[in-house]
Amino acid sequence: MNAAAQNIAPSSEARSFLDRDHRLLIDGKWVPAASGEVTEIFDPATEQKLATAAAGGKEDIDRAVAAARKALRGEWSKLTSYDRTRLILKLADELEANIGLASEIETLDNGMPRMVAHYSIASFGCDFLRYYAGWATKISGETIPVSPQGVRNGESLTYTRREPIGVVGAIIPWNAPLIMATLKLGPALAAGCTVVLKPAELTPLAALFLGDLVKRVGFPDGVINIVTGYGETAGAALAAHPDVDKIAFTGSTEVGKKIIAASIGNLKRVTLELGGKSPMVVFPDADLDKVIPGVTRGAFFLNGQNCMAGTRLFVHGDIFDTVVERVAQMASQFRIGHGLSPDSDLGPLISGEQRERVMGYVEAGRKSGAELVCGGDVLPGRGFFMKPTLFSKTTMDMSIAREEIFGPVLCVQAFSDSDLQAVANEANRSIYGLSGSVWTRDISVAHRMAAMIDAGQVSINCHAAVDPAIPFGGNRQSGWGREFGREGLDAYLKTKATTVIY
Ligand code: NAI
Ligand code: MG
Repeated sequence: MNAAAQNIAPSSEARSFLDRDHRLLIDGKWVPAASGEVTEIFDPATEQKLATAAAGGKEDIDRAVAAARKALRGEWSKLTSYDRTRLILKLADELEANIGLASEIETLDNGMPRMVAHYSIASFGCDFLRYYAGWATKISGETIPVSPQGVRNGESLTYTRREPIGVVGAIIPWNAPLIMATLKLGPALAAGCTVVLKPAELTPLAALFLGDLVKRVGFPDGVINIVTGYGETAGAALAAHPDVDKIAFTGSTEVGKKIIAASIGNLKRVTLELGGKSPMVVFPDADLDKVIPGVTRGAFFLNGQNCMAGTRLFVHGDIFDTVVERVAQMASQFRIGHGLSPDSDLGPLISGEQRERVMGYVEAGRKSGAELVCGGDVLPGRGFFMKPTLFSKTTMDMSIAREEIFGPVLCVQAFSDSDLQAVANEANRSIYGLSGSVWTRDISVAHRMAAMIDAGQVSINCHAAVDPAIPFGGNRQSGWGREFGREGLDAYLKTKATTVIY
């Protein structure tokens, strides 16, 4: 059964949020877009209109950046690091206190099952903010006892200060809208930066909900500005803005390259979290009772609409047929439906356009000679649902195995070589290098293989282990820089060296 038949209705609390006149948060005030334009927001599970949001453009970005610049020099800069910690913790507490409504809005906007929304907001919303709240008081420089310009030892001192990088433009995607916002805000605020946040045009609601909490918590005006709107207009204006010091972007590799091009004007700093085509490598000694749920979820979590999705499964020939059969069995048993139904394991894809794009890959997979083991169809009726799809006997020259599909499509390929490097070479045959996993009980194979996979993070006997403290980011065309952990904070700081000769 799919969503339309389930007749799912939002709660009255969510309804009254959705029905609001959604505006832009600029300098502490909700204001309409200068052009007066709006975008319509749809529930991907029912294709029904949910809400109307302001479509901000260049003029709004200019106003938001000016507010962020003013705030950077204002009251915000006078606060102690303890004050910043307290404010970020308060934001986490507010989010936790409202997690029911937050997760309902996230589900309506994005389609993900409510339990997934709840879990992700608890850990990557609330706890992530708390993790970075703690960092605000631990930002420090070094003292360097050098003797520049020929001064005698002991007559000079250099110290470094870590200063906020300045005004940050955060451009985020639609696949986990609320947590994407907190992932950018946490380290930026801990570092003392100010932010202009540009949510994805398909899913602006979570950020707007967060905007309410930001106001309630009492951040000084202009520290956090939210401009909803399209990528080509609002996003591009932010990326190119001469008074923005850094862009933190998550999204497609294609747009990531445009962000770099747009940054050239003022040489702003850029960090990029982009696409992936992550391998999962299963050796014949692995514990299949852990492997099957692990790799199946690794591939189909959020319908594969997540950058770390394990979309290429490499299985040793000895266990190939068993693994393919069991993964297909589990994938076929996922219950598909409206994310607000407690019975749904998977929701819809984000949009009709996205589903068409994914189905285009399914068609290409069929034509390429890969073996379709399960799925490959959309669900009839309303909502952008499709079945988890597994292709076996794929090779790395097929587009389904090479390109990021961002949908529920898993490619499985056998390996028989006892040469680990050959297996790694196959796993690394991708323009991406975001994530990967190795499944074996042999610790030597596990660590050797993990070292050989060219990715920002590799998990052993699980896939995509993420935590606020674990550095996260990609190699090659999966991105620039790392988020999370101390490195994630460093990306929002710049160093000033001060030397005194006495
Ligand atoms: P996208 O990369 O176009 O959108 C991400 C964000 O960038 C949105 O906020 C969008 O408004 C903004 N944006 C778009 N064009 C821009 C521009 N010229 N300048 C500044 N900002 C801009 O992603 P899209 O088109 O929604 O999805 C297409 C494909 O991208 C997906 O099928 C998937 O393969 C990939 N993708 C990957 C993500 C990841 O986390 N790795 C997230 C979202 C999409
Ligand atoms: Mg795009």
